[in-house]
Amino acid sequence: MPKDGAASTDRGAGNPIRILGIETSCDETAVGIVEDGRRILSNAVASSLPLHAPYGGVIPEIAARAHVETIWDVTTQALAEAHLSPADLDAVAVTQGPGLPGALLTGLSFAKGLALSLDRPLIPVDHLAAHLYAGEMSDESVQPPYVGLVVSGGHTVLCVAHPDCRFELLGETKDDAVGEAFDKVAKLLGLGYPGGPAIDRVSDEGRAASVVLPRSHSKQPFDFSFSGLKTAVVQYVRKVSEGQPQGLQAQQVADIAAGFQEAAVDVLVTKTLRAAQRTGVRRVVAGGGVAANRRLRARLSEAGAANKLQVVFPPPALCVDNGAMIAGLAYPLLQRGRVAPLSIASDPNLCLV
Ligand code: KG4
Ligand code: ZN
Repeated sequence: MPKDGAASTDRGAGNPIRILGIETSCDETAVGIVEDGRRILSNAVASSLPLHAPYGGVIPEIAARAHVETIWDVTTQALAEAHLSPADLDAVAVTQGPGLPGALLTGLSFAKGLALSLDRPLIPVDHLAAHLYAGEMSDESVQPPYVGLVVSGGHTVLCVAHPDCRFELLGETKDDAVGEAFDKVAKLLGLGYPGGPAIDRVSDEGRAASVVLPRSHSKQPFDFSFSGLKTAVVQYVRKVSEGQPQGLQAQQVADIAAGFQEAAVDVLVTKTLRAAQRTGVRRVVAGGGVAANRRLRARLSEAGAANKLQVVFPPPALCVDNGAMIAGLAYPLLQRGRVAPLSIASDPNLCLV
């Protein structure tokens, strides 16, 4: 059976600890191998995105099937890129949640099989915590405490990350996640799926000031709401399209995208700064797919500099879903003995435990 307890390795004391991390919470089948929680040896990913594109969103059943079909190949690729064999691994880590139930189940089942066959510990990882840990991986000086902003396709969360892998939830979205809003607005503008990167790109040509959309500031100081902004875009598009049977022109699309992006980024920056001010925590880490957004990176970094806060973004490849962030966070968890029995279940609603 896989070992319980603190970090142990069959390869003797003093050797680096190598953990393989499996991420299958949504449409990416991702496997990364990380040494001592920081050194990325490989970070392989296969996306089922093209299979979902015709539907304009992720279809859970298709995502789960795609994971089953590709997880073995992606794992083999990660081992090959790291020049390792399975026996060189010290532990197997896997996303326990949050995510799509069927998708999580395929990754967890595979991880259990691997841990059992290799006789290695199994380490369950919270996907949202891993998005923030990607910031710690990218800069060794970054340690908790910090204000964490997780912005992804499924979540928009503000928290304080404390030492010992503990989190204090400050607020979250009450309706759409910000990434979901990016994707829906992009679909409306005919920019395809996923929309976040497309909006980021076309906004370069847009005049944000020409399309001013509402900034929704919910009553709770750290909660978010993006459905009103999305509806405002729908109404704006409807109005502009009246008397334009040929549809929106490219410049109009760019202006609306830029106006939407500016409104969304404004709210994220305002609330994150407020969290830092009210908690007195002087460091901010942003993670998740939307943290790859160039406007958010620029605006939050500027605001941080103006307010003497350290603002950290992982490199874009570590913002989107990946296996390295799971393998990375598993290292401090293993050091704290946070390994799981093979009876563990996935948890689609997990949120920063
Ligand atoms: O973290 P992630 O890869 O998956 C989830 O955990 O959901 O985030 C995916 C989300 C999608 O909504 C995608 O449109 C958005 O991140 N995204 C972006 C950018 N790159 C990805 N949103 C805005 N700008 C980007 N550059
Ligand atoms: Zn994610």
